[in-house]
Amino acid sequence: MRRKIVAGNWKMHGSRAENAALVETIVASVTSERTTCVICPPFIYLHETWRQLRGGAVALGAQDLCAEALGAHTGEVSAAMLKDVGCEYVLVGHSERRALYGEDSPLVARKFAAAHSKGLTPVLCLGEQLAEREAGRTHSIVGAQIDAVVQLCGIQSFAQAVVAYEPVWAIGTGRTATPDQAQETHAFIRQRLACEDAKIAAGLRILYGGSVKAGNARDIFVMPDVDGGLIGGASLKADEFIAIFAAADSLAVSG
Ligand code: 13P
Repeated sequence: MRRKIVAGNWKMHGSRAENAALVETIVASVTSERTTCVICPPFIYLHETWRQLRGGAVALGAQDLCAEALGAHTGEVSAAMLKDVGCEYVLVGHSERRALYGEDSPLVARKFAAAHSKGLTPVLCLGEQLAEREAGRTHSIVGAQIDAVVQLCGIQSFAQAVVAYEPVWAIGTGRTATPDQAQETHAFIRQRLACEDAKIAAGLRILYGGSVKAGNARDIFVMPDVDGGLIGGASLKADEFIAIFAAADSLAVSG
């Protein structure tokens, strides 16, 4: 069985003081070793957050990275730098990066490879727009997003990776995919990868993201191919995030 994972993506929110208070509450409440907890603050706060985590049950992740290893890339942050400041995870291909910063699937695949090369666990974000879902194109869009990474990095790279299905129409909108919609797309993703390697696909953790709240988390996380959540807005409220983590943990298996 797969361990559940709950990751908080803070996006471009917070301040030193606000983050410190949030982290303090999360660290004090998240003690379970059965379920993985990750928080992803903005780059500028990563190291300070890592110090506060003190090597406990909560892991550190970044929201993005540069596809290049080093050099003349003003304003960018490399995989090695993320590792150096204590990150274990990094989001790649978040829909906001794809939509607002022009990241296409080949670039996302290179970022996935860069993360992997330094021992970070990439959290590959996938998802369709509302018009694409309504046109019945969810599988072709999400399938192509996965295929780009498999082509460049190989199926073996998914042995150390996490996938997050985040339908764009559900992000920050309050409109959540139904548990059945999430399950259906998660099963499709797993099946697509199983064609390459059944064992790796069976062990892969696939998170759902998009308006997850304490009130709906359990109903989504209980679905057989949903292995936890990638949480945006609700991860900025300690009580809400802790309740979402507890929902995942209540369904968790040891090991
Ligand atoms: P919300 O939970 O705010 O919908 O955001 C989801 C998300 O984008 C997490 O990466």
